[in-house]
Amino acid sequence: MSYDLLADFGRPLRWGMVGGGTDSLIGETHRLAARVDGRYQLVTGCLSYDPAIAKRSAEVCLLEPSRSYTSFEAMAEAEANREDGVEVVTVCTPPHLHAAASEAFLKRDIAVLCEKPMTKNLAEARALKETVDSSQAKFALTHCYTGYPMVREARALISSGAIGAIRQIECDFVSGPFLDENPDRSKRHWRFLPEYMGTASILGEIGAHAINMISYTCGELPQSVLAKMVTLTPGREVADDAQILLQFPGNRIGRMWLSFVATGSEHGLAFRVFGDKGSLQWRQEQPEQLIHTPRGEYARTITSGHLDRLTPLGAHSCRLREGHPEGYVLAFANLYRDFADQIIGSRLGVALNPHVSTVPGADEGVETLRFFEACVRSNDAGSTWQNL
Ligand SMILES: NC(=O)c1ccc[n+]([C@@H]2O[C@H](COP(=O)([O-])OP(=O)(O)OC[C@H]3O[C@@H](n4cnc5c(N)ncnc54)[C@H](O)[C@@H]3O)[C@@H](O)[C@H]2O)c1
Repeated sequence: MSYDLLADFGRPLRWGMVGGGTDSLIGETHRLAARVDGRYQLVTGCLSYDPAIAKRSAEVCLLEPSRSYTSFEAMAEAEANREDGVEVVTVCTPPHLHAAASEAFLKRDIAVLCEKPMTKNLAEARALKETVDSSQAKFALTHCYTGYPMVREARALISSGAIGAIRQIECDFVSGPFLDENPDRSKRHWRFLPEYMGTASILGEIGAHAINMISYTCGELPQSVLAKMVTLTPGREVADDAQILLQFPGNRIGRMWLSFVATGSEHGLAFRVFGDKGSLQWRQEQPEQLIHTPRGEYARTITSGHLDRLTPLGAHSCRLREGHPEGYVLAFANLYRDFADQIIGSRLGVALNPHVSTVPGADEGVETLRFFEACVRSNDAGSTWQNL
């Protein structure tokens, strides 16, 4: 179905980027993911606010110099006035700019794929959601880990009742590369400067993925949280480790551990969900495997690529046959493909494959910021329970 859509549309979407210059961490990953299915052609960008970086990045991306900008407002204005103007824009600046950059395009009915967290705080997230609701254009968030086939398989299995009624949910995002703080404040990454997302920015940087993973797979959110955040690295100004207890409706419980300083851990996003009929567990560092333990039985390992055995959503998300690892870029590409198919499908006026609509959007962005702010309230009030 997806391939038919592209054939009927007859061309890739005209795509732009805000942020993601050659100086960025995540920009090239977006470009890799967008290339995979041929649905996007990069035609414009405000790849940096810095003229030299924007120019060099535009050269590397083979953009026409006249369509390389250093202001996203100017880009939105100019592109909206072109007949061949940009149709969809990725916003991958630091989070304090997500709201303004997304609004500049949405107000002109240009679709936006925005990095997480949706905004730097809850007030901005609610305002951006209003803009999304009043725009003709679509909006989604690159919670890239939800693109893994085995994460999508977990979502489908849980919603089909495979593990019964959920009782406990655990999700960690434990990484360990930031063990020292730069004594020169001017050289610190924005992630470690409180002026960007406050001292609890760990919640936006990696907590956003963890809470979205719970929401995406289990279809629910905690109703209250008890958070303790600490700074373990000398000289650091923001929290770099957090333990959070989660209370779900019906007196069910959960737990989340977030860390930038778990020595030796590479990129440890993982979840375990326990229901009254079984459990599921998954680890980002071995993403092709989902462990399912039905109650009273031995664990079995579900693996990617078994199109005839997976759920339809899991199969929709696989690109390769069993035994061929797909990895992070193809997971990221699933979000790009599904979002493009939402846009192209609505342009063509055709019924969409329901699987393309699982890409997180503005509602999930607001959820994340509600969680973020409840955790901050809890921590600031001496780690007491606070409602979302
Ligand atoms: N989905 C993921 O797994 C993932 C991974 C890493 C980062 N991120 C998110 O992506 C976003 C960017 O993170 P990063 O690590 O790449 O940041 P970064 O600081 O490495 O790069 C930011 C980029 O934005 C550009 N920029 C800054 N201000 C700008 C402006 N006013 N106009 C245009 N461009 C501007 C910079 O020049 C740079 O190219 C953040 O929201 C971050 O949380 C997501």
